[in-house]
Amino acid sequence: MEFEEQQLVEAWYQELVNTGELEYEEGEKESIQEAIETGLLQSISTGEEPYTLAMIFLEESQGVLKGFRFEIEATDLNEISLEHARQGIYGEYSTRNLPPYLRQKYFLNTGESLQVNSTLQSKVKFSRLNLQDASRMVFMKGMDIIFCCNVLIYFDTSSKRMVIQHFYNNLTAHGFLFLGHSESLYGISDDFRLVHMPSATGYVKSPRTPVMRG
Ligand SMILES: C[S@@+](CC[C@H](N)C(=O)[O-])C[C@H]1O[C@@H](n2cnc3c(N)ncnc32)[C@H](O)[C@@H]1O
Repeated sequence: MEFEEQQLVEAWYQELVNTGELEYEEGEKESIQEAIETGLLQSISTGEEPYTLAMIFLEESQGVLKGFRFEIEATDLNEISLEHARQGIYGEYSTRNLPPYLRQKYFLNTGESLQVNSTLQSKVKFSRLNLQDASRMVFMKGMDIIFCCNVLIYFDTSSKRMVIQHFYNNLTAHGFLFLGHSESLYGISDDFRLVHMPSATGYVKSPRTPVMRG
């Protein structure tokens, strides 16, 4: 649990502010507060990423994200990793950067390990998903943020293009896509705007320019 996701959530929130997505008139506030913000994490391995993100959202729900509701869909191809993630039991190494305050608030100390408590567990929905299964990917709609770190590096160019095309279609307007440090959309897609951040590569969904015919 590295907590660099904190910066990413802040970047996403800033983008909503900059694009006017959060502007509202007096009286409209209720509908904004009822907005469901969904973060989808693809290929989460043993679950550290979605639980970290859930803690950030829970903590920020008293601050900058006050009034937002959120859902986190965490997926991976590997059933064994998913089972580990569902159980949410982590040793010393995975939790070395977890601040004591969050350790107490969101984990049960079993002596040798820490187990995610029911509050945190209830915020993340786990399911098996093959990113190359187009018949499933078309249904992952309405995502505000997609994290897909250190997965595309294993795919060939045409598979990367197909997966990124699905991500584009699945994101809401101004939705964010985060890739791993060594990954990029260079030569894969021009449909996103690159956002430079110290700890990650962020891409914002840009509206497609209509092709003029005739
Ligand atoms: C290197 S790990 C990255 C895990 C995590 N996102 C991170 O950055 O630490 C790669 C993950 O991709 C998953 N994976 C590999 N091929 C996949 C596919 N076709 N669809 C979905 N997940 C896949 C693996 O099961 C593994 O959990």
